[in-house]
This record gives sequence, structure tokens and C-alpha cells, in this order.
Amino acid sequence: MHSVADLRARARQRLPRVVFDFIDGGAGDEATLRRNEAAFQELRLVPRVFVPCRSRDLSTALLGQTYGMPFGVTPMGLCNLAWPGTDLGIARAAAQAGIPYALSTMASTSIEDIARAAPEHTWFQLYVGGDAAIADSLLDRALAAGIRTLVLTVDANFTARRLRDRRNHFALPLRPTPRLLADLASHPHWSLATLAAGAPTFENFKPTAKNPRSIDIKDMLVALAQAHIDWSLLEHARARWPHRLIVKGVLHPEDARRIAALGADGVVVSNHGGRQLAMVPSSIEALPAIRAAVGPDFAVLIDSGVRSGDDIARALASGADFVLLGRTFLYGTAALGAEQGPRATIEILRGELDTAMAQLGCSTIADLRRADRFTPSIPTAPTSRGSA
Ligand SMILES: Cc1cc2nc3c(=O)[nH]c(=O)nc-3n(C[C@H](O)[C@H](O)[C@H](O)COP(=O)(O)O)c2cc1C
Repeated sequence: MHSVADLRARARQRLPRVVFDFIDGGAGDEATLRRNEAAFQELRLVPRVFVPCRSRDLSTALLGQTYGMPFGVTPMGLCNLAWPGTDLGIARAAAQAGIPYALSTMASTSIEDIARAAPEHTWFQLYVGGDAAIADSLLDRALAAGIRTLVLTVDANFTARRLRDRRNHFALPLRPTPRLLADLASHPHWSLATLAAGAPTFENFKPTAKNPRSIDIKDMLVALAQAHIDWSLLEHARARWPHRLIVKGVLHPEDARRIAALGADGVVVSNHGGRQLAMVPSSIEALPAIRAAVGPDFAVLIDSGVRSGDDIARALASGADFVLLGRTFLYGTAALGAEQGPRATIEILRGELDTAMAQLGCSTIADLRRADRFTPSIPTAPTSRGSA
């Protein structure tokens, strides 16, 4: 396994189709999903020569904390569908590598278990549904577990039209149709492992669920769609959360400016990995205008479509402070299991980023972030960043 593409190909073989499509798919005709990856590939960095950089330091600081590398794991619900133990495996590998793991509200492992496994590196991602008291109790649990970085997701307040899931009749708990049974029977390794571990569920909702043993994904999505999302939500979160607060799912520069003005500490430029709407810009396209809107000192993170260390280098050179990856980590665990998969994924990304930095003439992440050293450009919309 030498690249994320290798991991994805193996994951596709090992996972039942209904599961692979849930992870891999996007909204509508999946144009955003494709655009996310294509826009990264089209972005070119021009190397500088005669720059000695025999050794590279990949560590970087974000909002007062130093991380071993400039990337981390973005929040994802139901990770344990990829393989039993995925959340814990990723959290442990992330802590070992000194990078953050953002645990989702919809995670298949509890806040407390993940915070215990990665005490310094767990972030918590909050979705606010129809019942604000549930959101507040999740915040209290995250605080009590020692978590100090909150990611408030604001781009998923309505159920997306994910056609692969509709065609596969994806539901949780899984409904045993003849097609699903054939799908599971042709992937016995996953099916037996998942049967032995117990089907994943929404662990963080067990204390408030009517039927904690069998929480329906449809109910969760309906609850999200009832969320009352306006600027008062951010004000409430800011007043209630005393530590680092990052708002995820921002594409418009004016929104980013207002989020900064309301006292958040950062934004994640994200289109939810193309899972919400098929007509929106790729996150790497949206990044430069957001950086320009919030200025050089506000923390700007990015996710959606990052599939390599080269993409991480592209994002940093285009103005991001930090990069998050989603599906990449689930391909890794589905391909290689919950223990080896996350570690191998991190190692592939680290090796690619290190090679890119050496070739580009960068010894540090700060070098890479000095965009005036390169000329990042998407050929269809060239932008001149000046020259060193
Ligand atoms: C299976 C899956 C589940 C996700 N669940 C959540 C979630 O619970 N909360 C959230 O903020 N984003 C969620 N996302 C979106 C990711 O946080 C992120 O924005 C996206 O995956 C980034 O794109 P990438 O997968 O191309 O890296 C999910 C994405 C995937 C693939």
C-alpha cells in the first residue's frame, strides 16, 4: 500500500457495497465530490532551486498547541462501519503521531473512551439538532472529559440527497433484504468481524435515546434537520465553550469574517467532502478568498478532497494553517484494519509531505506557508502571488 488510491482500492474490495458507498459517496450527481479532488490535482506549485533543506521539520502550532504534523482527522460519524474499532484505532494512532482526531457527535465510540485514548489530541465536533439541551449536555461531557477544542459543524442542517445510499437502501440498523444479505455474504471478513463486535451505533446518544440499543439513523437525520441554525447558535456556543472553538463548513468569505467577529478561534473551509450539495465550490477554490477576508492571523483549516501529502502541501501553500482528512482514514482502516490502517495512512501522508517539502525547498511548515515563495495556481483561474 503506497498511496491513498491503493488504500481505497483495497477498501472497495473488503467492504460490502452498502458500506463502501456510504463512506465513498457524495450528494446528488457527486459533482462536488469530483471537483474537490480535481481542483487539488490542478493546483500546481512551482519549486524553488538552490534552497538547502537536508532535513525537514513537519511540526506546526495551531491555536497554541503544537502538533507533530500539519494535518489531522476530520470528524466522521459511524467510523466503526469501516471496521470494528476504527474510532479507537485512529485516536491511538493520532496521539502517537501527535496529530488531532476530531470525534464526531455521530461517532460510534463515546466521547469519554476517545478522550481517554488520546487525552491531548481529541477534539469534539458538535452537531446541534432539534433539542438544544442534548447539545449542551454533549458539550458538558466533552469539557468533563478534558477536551479543549470544539468543532461546531454548520453545513449539515438538512438531509442531503445521497443517491448511492438511496439506491442501496442504506439504513441503520441495516435492514436485511436479499440484496444486503448477498452483499454481506460476499464480504465474510467484514461481516464476521462486525457481527462479533456488534453493529456500530451512535454511542453518544445512548444516554438520551428512547431505545439506546437500536438508534435509527433516520431519526438522527430528522433531528438534525430540525436544528435552529442562525447566528445566535454561534453566540450560544461561544458563551458556553470556554476553550478553542472552530466553525466547520464555511465556504463564503463574508461568513468567515462574521464568525471571526463573533469570537470563534478558527474556521474549517469545507463542503463536507461533497456530501451535502453538488453545486458548491471545492474547498481549495474557496480558500484564498476566505484567507483574504479574515487576514493572516485567524486560524483557517481546510478539508474536502485531500488525498495525499502533496494535497496537504498545496493547501498550506494556498493559505491554510492546518489540513483535515476524512475518507482517507476510513479507506486506511477498511484496507488494513483498525490498528495498522490508521498508522499506515499517517505514514503514507507523512512520507509524501516530507518528499514534497524536500523537492519544493522547504525545511519547515512555515516555509511551505510562505506562499510568496511559490506560485500556486489553478490553470483555469491563474492567480499571481508575487515572487520571492
Ligand atoms: C462517512 C463520513 C461521515 C461523516 N460524518 C460527519 C460528521 O459526523 N460530522 C461532520 O462535521 N462531518 C462529517 N463528515 C464530513 C467530514 O468531516 C469532512 O468534511 C469530509 O469527509 C472531508 O472530505 P474528505 O472525506 O474528502 O476528506 C463525514 C464524512 C464522511 C465521509
